[in-house]
Amino acid sequence: MSSYSLKSVIKNQALLEDVGSFINGKWIKETTAGTFKVNDPSDSADSSLIDIPNLAASQVDYAIDIGHKEFYNYKATTNTYRSSQLMKLYSKIMENKEDLAKLIVLENGKSMADASGEIAYGASYFKYYAEYMMTQGATDIMIQPTNPNNRIFTKKAPVGLVGIITPWNFPFAMITRKLSVALAVGCTAIIKPDAQTPLSAIALTKLIEQCGYAPGVVNLLVASNDYTPEFGLKLCESPKIKKLTFTGSTRVGKILMQQSSNTLKKLSFELGGNAPFIVCENVKNMEYVVDHAIASKFRGLGQTCVCANIFYIHEKVLPEFIKVLKPKIEAFKIGHGLDENITHGSLINQNAVKKVKEHVEDAVSKGAEVVIPGGSLPALGQNFYAPTVLSNVSLDSKVCNEETFGPLMAIVSYNDVNSVIDKVNTNSVGLASYVFNDDINELFHISERLETGMVSCNTGLFSDVNLPFGGVKESGFGREGSVFGLDDFTVIKSMILGLQPIKN
Ligand code: SIN
Repeated sequence: MSSYSLKSVIKNQALLEDVGSFINGKWIKETTAGTFKVNDPSDSADSSLIDIPNLAASQVDYAIDIGHKEFYNYKATTNTYRSSQLMKLYSKIMENKEDLAKLIVLENGKSMADASGEIAYGASYFKYYAEYMMTQGATDIMIQPTNPNNRIFTKKAPVGLVGIITPWNFPFAMITRKLSVALAVGCTAIIKPDAQTPLSAIALTKLIEQCGYAPGVVNLLVASNDYTPEFGLKLCESPKIKKLTFTGSTRVGKILMQQSSNTLKKLSFELGGNAPFIVCENVKNMEYVVDHAIASKFRGLGQTCVCANIFYIHEKVLPEFIKVLKPKIEAFKIGHGLDENITHGSLINQNAVKKVKEHVEDAVSKGAEVVIPGGSLPALGQNFYAPTVLSNVSLDSKVCNEETFGPLMAIVSYNDVNSVIDKVNTNSVGLASYVFNDDINELFHISERLETGMVSCNTGLFSDVNLPFGGVKESGFGREGSVFGLDDFTVIKSMILGLQPIKN
C-alpha cells in the first residue's frame, strides 16, 4: 500500500466515487475483464493506491457506436452552448484544482508544484476555446470564385468522433489540450488514458459528467496496459472514428499510423523529441540562462517530450555555466511530491530509472566527465533518481541520439554554432529546441535554421495555450493549442452557390 491513501488526501471524495470507464453517460464498474492496480511511483515496491476495473475489449466497440451516434446531435449544438459548457468545466476544474493536482502527484510521482502547474495549464485550454468559440466560432468565409455568377461559402465543420490516446507524463493536460478543441468545434470523443495514470482522467470525466453533457459526448476507456494494443487497434481501425490524436512515442505513433491507414482518418501526433539547448558565447546573464536550463531539463524530472536533452554550451562560457549550475542542482529537494518543501519527485517506473542509468553509463564509457554523479536514491524508493550532470559528452553517446526522458543533463562543448545546427538537423526527430543568444539578429538566424517545430529563444519554458504546439520530422504532425489547433479537428466544407440572373 502507498503511505498516502487516496481518501485521506482528496477533499472532494465525489471525484473518485465512480472509478472505472465512462460510456454513454454511465460508469462501468462491473466487468468480466478483472481489475488492475494503480501504483504510487514515489512509494515502496508495493505501492498500490486503488484497484480499477478493466473495461472489456468488446465495450470499446460499444463506446465507438455511442460516440459516433451522439456526434450527429452534438455537432448541431450552438457555439454559445458549447462555449458555456467549456467555461463551466473550466470553473469546476479550478474549484477542484488542489485535489486534481494531488491525484497527479500520486499517480505520476511529480512534485506538487509541477502538478499544480499542469492543472492550470490543462484547464487553460477549456477557457481559451470557450472564449474563442464565443468571439469567433470556427470561422465561416465567403470567397468570390472565377465565375462572377457563383459564390463559394466555406465552413470549418467538426471532423466527427475523435479518438484521444494520451501518455502518463502529463496525465491531465494532454487530455485537455485535445478534448477542449474537440468539444469546442462539435466533435464527440473517446479518451484512452495511460494505464499507469488514469486517476486524474477519471476525476476530469466526473467533472464533465457534472457539467451535464449529453450521454456519449465524452467517453473514457480505462484498462491495464495489457489491453492497450487491442484498444488502440480498435480505435484506429474503426471507420466511425474520423480522427485520432495521440501523444506518445515515435515507435507507437508509427504503429497507429499504419493501423489507421485503411480508414484514412485524420491524424495528429505529438511524438518523441530530443531537444538541444544551445548557449552561445555572447550570453551575459548566466544566472538567467542556468535557471532556464534547469527549468527546461528538470520539469517533471526530465520526463517531458520538450525537455532539453543535449546542452551545447560554447566553450568560452562553459566553465561559468557549470559553476553557476552546480549549487543550484545540489540544492534540489527530492522526495514524495506530497511531502513538504519538495522541489522534485520520482520517476514513473523502473524502466525509466534503467534508461537514465543506461545513458549515463554509456556516455561515461565514451569519455564523459562526471560533474554531478547523481544516481538512484533507494532510501527514498525504487523510482527515485538524483540528477546526473555530465560534460564533454561524446556525440556518438546514446543520450545525444535518443531521448533520455529522465534527469540526465548531458553537456557538449562547441566552438562553431554551424556544426551544432548541422548536428541538430541530422536528427530524425524535431520537436523543440532552445537557443540562448544576446544578439537578436544571430538569434533569429539560428532559430530559422533549426529544424524543429518549436524554437524557444532565451527562455526555457514556453508551453502555453496560445502556442501552436507540435513537431516536424519523426516528432509528428498537427498542432495543438492556439487558433491553429482548430484545423486538426475540423474539415473545410465548401458550398458553391450559383446566382441566377435577375429578370427585369
Ligand atoms: C509533452 O511532454 O508532451 C508536453 C509538454 C508540454 O506541453 O509542455
